[in-house]
Amino acid sequence: MSSNDTKKALSILDAGGVVGIPTETVYGLAAKIDSPEGIDKIFTTKERPDFDPLIVHVESIEQALKCTSSWPLHAELLANAFWPGPLTMVLPKASHISSKITSGLETVGLRCPNHPLTLELIHYSGPLAAPSANRFGKTSPTQKAHVDSEFNGEVFTIDGGACEIGIESTVIGIFEDHIEVYRPGAITPSMIKNITDIDVVVKESPVSPGHLKHHYMPDLPMYLSYEAQPEELKDIHFALIELSSDPNIAARELYQKMREAAQKPNAKAIVLLKKPEQQGELWDGIWNRVKKAITKEFI
Ligand code: TXA
Ligand code: MG
Repeated sequence: MSSNDTKKALSILDAGGVVGIPTETVYGLAAKIDSPEGIDKIFTTKERPDFDPLIVHVESIEQALKCTSSWPLHAELLANAFWPGPLTMVLPKASHISSKITSGLETVGLRCPNHPLTLELIHYSGPLAAPSANRFGKTSPTQKAHVDSEFNGEVFTIDGGACEIGIESTVIGIFEDHIEVYRPGAITPSMIKNITDIDVVVKESPVSPGHLKHHYMPDLPMYLSYEAQPEELKDIHFALIELSSDPNIAARELYQKMREAAQKPNAKAIVLLKKPEQQGELWDGIWNRVKKAITKEFI
């Protein structure tokens, strides 16, 4: 085993604690799947309601197979194509996966994250349940410093640098004749269709509460606007966010820009400027998060 951070994280996890883990999407708050105490701590640390199920992070397809009671061909194809990577597959759970992890559902979300430090950790710890490492409803962390400030330095977090992707994984449900996308992300419907050649339907799951109306919210009210100077805010001092015209860069920068904007001295609000050309499949994940983070749109 290599780094001291990994060793320290393992000892905390073994003692029923939680640790912050870097992934390519956002940082997670992890506990061992067989530690009821650790799983409870995820919910209390995040102040997360227990109806929101956790994703189980695995290091390989082999490990995923042990967490599910069914591994359809399409899961195999997609895992081969996109793991390690930003794709979470919801599949029937194995009986040992606790209902606390799945919020009572008979399914479990499985993902193999693409980060060497976290893959190394999971190699020794076994599968880790982890939501994003933010307080419930708040902006997801994309750097270790964000996790530290979110939990006042009380959660030991492995520093894996800034997240490459920057928004949470695509979450899908796999059915015999079609696939449902519950949460859009960097793996898009057409990328999934290319691999599986079955119908891919975008459908927010009622049981997937990333889908609550308000989520990902910064500490100041945020507005979405097609103009840099919205008439509605003419008397208010606000911080303006402009995103790159490259959706991969825009996703990587989104949460960091929201955090920076919320800390601008004297700012009472945040305006996120949407340009007409910022549209298409790769933008869907970005606008999905933004729509849940805003108070209102001026469009
Ligand atoms: O990129 C990510 O997915 C990050 C990193 C840490 O892996 N994790 C993350 O976790 O975003 P969280 O808990 O913030 O969001 C997980 C989403 C939630 O919307 C949850 O409802 C959904 O996945 N989910 C998990 N298990 C599910 C299940 N069995 N059925 C339906 N939705 C599920
Ligand atoms: Mg989250």
